Amino acid sequence: MLSQRLARFPRLDLLTAPTALHKLPRLSQRLGRDIYVKRDDTTPLAMGGNKLRKLEYLAADAQAQGADTLVTAGAIQSNHVRQTAALAAQLGLGCVALLENPIATDQVSYLGNGNRLLLDLFGAQVERVDSLDHADAQLQALAERLSAAGKRPYIVPIGGSNPLGALGYVRAGLELAQQIEATGLDFAAVLLASGSAGTHAGLALGLGEQYPDLPVIGVTVSRPQATQRPKVEQLAQATAQCLDMALPASFAVTLWDEYYGPRYGEPNAGTLAAVKLLAAQEGLLLDPVYTGKAMAGLLDGVARGRFAEGPVIFLHTGGAPALFAYPDVWNEHSEINA
Ligand SMILES: Cc1ncc(COP(=O)(O)O)c(C=O)c1O
Repeated sequence: MLSQRLARFPRLDLLTAPTALHKLPRLSQRLGRDIYVKRDDTTPLAMGGNKLRKLEYLAADAQAQGADTLVTAGAIQSNHVRQTAALAAQLGLGCVALLENPIATDQVSYLGNGNRLLLDLFGAQVERVDSLDHADAQLQALAERLSAAGKRPYIVPIGGSNPLGALGYVRAGLELAQQIEATGLDFAAVLLASGSAGTHAGLALGLGEQYPDLPVIGVTVSRPQATQRPKVEQLAQATAQCLDMALPASFAVTLWDEYYGPRYGEPNAGTLAAVKLLAAQEGLLLDPVYTGKAMAGLLDGVARGRFAEGPVIFLHTGGAPALFAYPDVWNEHSEINA
């Protein structure tokens, strides 16, 4: 049983309760298809999001190792860095983050509002880098510098996506399986944003124990299928190994890569229409980098008949603080009428 394998790993109980699974009634009526949302945007730290689940395991490991500083990296508007910095503050640890500007913008909102503004409030120390093309080596070098200065750093990889971090989503998969069972419904698919891949790999592994035939569709937010697939597969493999089990034969990675253009961190017209639609129809805030793109995939998937029969679950992974980093995109796309 996966739950028993998971129980062997130390974990901080940061969520304290399952996140809700509920129907989006107005969107469902509009689409003629029942859409449910799993509310991981409401995890209880610093405006929520998916990273807290990964940090339950990563921060427990950091504490077990006697670390005094969490070291991580991401985009200037990274939700992952925001949640890591908030948790460091809560645990009385330092936080140092390497930040890149993936869209090479000089917009003041991107550089200083949204997630970036919150990093300062949490007391995180940030270092700007030209790129994070060699993130693991860059984090290692930073950790060595901090060690030389007498600190005890703990490296949290980009997105919290190593096997230990992915355990948070294996656990989420078990949680969601119980909620699905309680509905008594036969769902067509679960859909989510797939980036550094820990959420996708972990959720697919966790859900697969009870629902091996339920597709877990990752909408890519930063790269085409050809490069995202090995990332998800390798992480799933390594996560299974960490749990001392083989990847089940039924394990399959499904990716949709038509919705992330023009590139990571830059919304397209479909992204913005999806964000507007969910806000206007349901009062639900998505974001311009991850969940807006994933929801655009869901909407298009319904329109084009890409799903099997049955209701669809959207995993809301958070990200709304980034809305304040992109105030101008709405004007540029003011012709969009959701
Ligand atoms: C809001 C949001 N959704 C989805 C993701 C993607 O999750 P993962 O990096 O585990 O693929 C992220 C990652 O940063 C995120 O911040």
